[in-house]
Amino acid sequence: MSELNKIALRILSNGRGILAADESTGTMTKRLEAINVPSSSENRLLFRETLFSSEGMKNCIGGVILYDETIKQISNSNKTIPHLISSSDTIPGIKVDTGAKVLAGSPEEKITEGLDGLRERLKEYYKLGARFTKWRGVYNISNKYPSKLSVHSNAHALARYSALVQECGMVPIVEPEVLMDGNHSAEDCFNKTSEVIKKCFEELILNNTDLTGMILKPNMILPGNKSAQKISNEEVAKLTLKCLKENVPTDVPGIAFLSGGQTEIQATENLDLINKHNDTNFIMTYSYGRALQQSALKFWSKDIKDISGTQKVFNHRANMCTLAAQGKWSAELETK
Ligand code: 13P
Repeated sequence: MSELNKIALRILSNGRGILAADESTGTMTKRLEAINVPSSSENRLLFRETLFSSEGMKNCIGGVILYDETIKQISNSNKTIPHLISSSDTIPGIKVDTGAKVLAGSPEEKITEGLDGLRERLKEYYKLGARFTKWRGVYNISNKYPSKLSVHSNAHALARYSALVQECGMVPIVEPEVLMDGNHSAEDCFNKTSEVIKKCFEELILNNTDLTGMILKPNMILPGNKSAQKISNEEVAKLTLKCLKENVPTDVPGIAFLSGGQTEIQATENLDLINKHNDTNFIMTYSYGRALQQSALKFWSKDIKDISGTQKVFNHRANMCTLAAQGKWSAELETK
């Protein structure tokens, strides 16, 4: 078993999942302004530190994805943030892409940037304590998109990023996100997501990535958020499993889904059903941002000094997601 495989399994095993707390300062500012909390570096740290020092972290979270600002901050208990996270037996990770920019040649689409100087940045993050990383490629669906250019360019960037990350002794999270925005059907999402994931693995293999030492972070298969089509959660789980079985090589140890705009309950229920039906060897867990933090953030905004109250809300969500990652969740447990 390679070192990278061991790290991946430590992050994902026993129902543990990933807390995606890597919102850029711009995104975090939007989230905080929406709840009338000033977006200062102190407040961004306070909210994140509240989650990082919770019971939910110890019991449920195998890895936390940080943003550049956070990995360099010192907690109120005078620990570095990676140290605070490691003290819960959780592995610190870092988002290393520099964002999705207009794709030259197809300006309605995006290409994720950040490869220039990446090797040097990775070495610095390793020294700060990171042992895994994230890079997100983003694709929109319409009858002409994603284009072959976008599918190819983003897969190429994800694979070059992965090879560099493994060279530096860290586990890459490969996140090709096919967005939920639009009026497309679940079948469209299935077909486009399949094409995107297939291309990512072609490029990952071409770049000699150790597939046992990576984590795939895909979207679930859903109809667009403006689609008239409604499908059952059972159907979401079955289509998602079919897509992954057909396109992910069996060497990959685990899949950690993004929530992508689903509500907390939807993201939990769909993950639970995926696990109830999981007939693969892949670990299927969560790497949620919004679906882990939304309620906690709302609660916190009422009194940013109420650390234990906020932690209670977060602990509940993390517990529910961890049950779902084992196929043991039920709606009744939400209100217990
Ligand atoms: P969401 O779960 O809010 O989609 O965020 C996950 C993530 O890391 C997006 O890059």
